[in-house]
Amino acid sequence: KESGAMKFRRQHMDPDSNPSNNSNYCDQMMRRRKMTEGRCKPVNTFVHEPLVDVQAICLQGNITCKNGHSNCHKSSSSMHITECRLTNGSRYPNCAYRTSQKEKQIIVACEGNPYVPVHFDASV
Ligand code: ATR
Repeated sequence: KESGAMKFRRQHMDPDSNPSNNSNYCDQMMRRRKMTEGRCKPVNTFVHEPLVDVQAICLQGNITCKNGHSNCHKSSSSMHITECRLTNGSRYPNCAYRTSQKEKQIIVACEGNPYVPVHFDASV
């Protein structure tokens, strides 16, 4: 069965690519990473940094998450990310996304032992 840590890596990690000039990145990746099955996931962020650097965020500044839990952590450095947002006219099963590249600090929720990312909360 897929663990929370595995789900985070599937939904949010893409260390070996930089989609700078590929406007189809989100359409392809949201489908390839199985976020367009049953429904179109409305918003999702991919992180283009080494896994160890993203795992290390769990040891960085502790903050409150959007849902009020206290297990969120903000990266001390900004990271290369791609935000995928479902377009207004898009209707399941034809999930169409807008791809936007950003460089921002990211906030993840961490859980378990080892204490690793399980949820992407925000970028700031
Ligand atoms: P994501 O939020 O990364 O887009 P998700 O599919 O919503 O992906 O999965 C988030 C997972 O992180 C959930 O298993 C969630 O647990 P619950 O289902 O119990 O909410 C987990 N999680 C752990 N801490 C969380 C937090 N502070 N905020 C949101 N989700 C958290």
